[in-house]
Amino acid sequence: MAHPSFSRIGFIMAAAGSAVGLGNVWKFPYITGQYGGGAFVLVYLLTIFLIGFSVLVAEMYIGSRGKSDTVTSFEHLDPTPRKPWKYAGLMAFNGLLVMTFYSVVIGWIFHYIFLTLTQPLPTDIPTAQANFTHLTTLEPFSQLFWHAIATLIVVVVLYRGVKAGIERMNMIMMPSLIAIFVGLLLYSMQFGEAFVRALEFMFYPDFSKLSSEAIVKAIGHAFFTLSIGMGAIMTYSAALPHKNNITHAAFWVAFLDTAIALIAGVLVFAFLFHFDQEPAVGPGLVFASMPVIFSQLGYIGTLLALLFFLALSFAGLTSAVSLTEPSVEYLINRFGFSRLKAVAWSGLTYFGVGVLVLLSLVEGTDAWLKIGERSLFGFFEHITDAILLPFSGLLTALFIGYILPKNALREHLEKEMGTKLYGVWRFSIRYIVPVALLFMLLNLTGIIVV
Ligand code: PFF
Repeated sequence: MAHPSFSRIGFIMAAAGSAVGLGNVWKFPYITGQYGGGAFVLVYLLTIFLIGFSVLVAEMYIGSRGKSDTVTSFEHLDPTPRKPWKYAGLMAFNGLLVMTFYSVVIGWIFHYIFLTLTQPLPTDIPTAQANFTHLTTLEPFSQLFWHAIATLIVVVVLYRGVKAGIERMNMIMMPSLIAIFVGLLLYSMQFGEAFVRALEFMFYPDFSKLSSEAIVKAIGHAFFTLSIGMGAIMTYSAALPHKNNITHAAFWVAFLDTAIALIAGVLVFAFLFHFDQEPAVGPGLVFASMPVIFSQLGYIGTLLALLFFLALSFAGLTSAVSLTEPSVEYLINRFGFSRLKAVAWSGLTYFGVGVLVLLSLVEGTDAWLKIGERSLFGFFEHITDAILLPFSGLLTALFIGYILPKNALREHLEKEMGTKLYGVWRFSIRYIVPVALLFMLLNLTGIIVV
């Protein structure tokens, strides 16, 4: 790799920045609400530590040994004569597909930051819900504007490269985000009873509420939240400093990602319960409920709302950069593009398709921009969750578990983890991960319906 490597802490921040995203703060609380709380959270936590962590280590290993874009890294490491595994590296483009809707959602967050600064917050849920629906279905130009701003930020950071762009952004945004969420959590503790109810809701597992659909959702989300299956962590790992301990780094990434999701969950529910709202409100949770809740707290509420949306935008932007970098590196290494050209090409591609994605929710154009019953937005979200992520994760697990010669792998990882943990990791990557991912793949594509 031509550019300088991350520093050790820079890598952990960047990989954690990739993992901690809209998935943690926007999605995790609302799906936890929809799927009934504690038992769902338990499946999610088990998946992260028993399965997700293994794939995280696998992606880091491939990237740090291959030392290139995802395709070239697989190619370098593939011991078979015709090197077919390089095609698994095409997962670099999954991230661009995710970016077509991810960037639109970051745009919504910017819009909310702007509203918080310029207007009074809505004071009741129906009004807040109507505002949110108005934005997504009747304000294409405003969405377009903020989607463009989000794209511009991502493109500029990526153009500045690994050290001056990605590392610096994460070194600023990640500690700020952590500080804001911990601060909001401390603030929500004063709600006393509502805070305790939030803890109970998140951590008391009521298994009667655990449907099989909830299990599939929890496993899928655990993978998404760790940034598995898009080549993001693999690409970042190519710029790892020498002698970095990947097990240690993977642990920190999984830990920070989980901690932020749990903090976001507890604080959102503590606010929600304090103001007598229901937990199962769906995707509008942070966009509709949170502003109303903050509005009840007067000036301090406006400040808290601002901090909340700012932290949410940091979470989104640091993940967005990691979703786009794999295709940038691929275009530079395999097609000889300059960094500027690769960044511009990637940015324009997802921006352009993203315009169609946002129009697929807008009244008038929505009828045209559908695939089957789903809007383009819903369709792209579905195929990344249901097909691309599990498929790429499966290929990564099979490659590292069955194709890669095991001696070098064992020597490296045993030194880091010790013999016992290595044994557990290898068992997980060879058997548990493929079964779980295959289950998701068959289930979510509708072959097995549980
Ligand atoms: N982990 C991010 C989130 O939770 O929002 C999303 C994501 C980022 C997925 C980067 C995959 C990825 F490569």
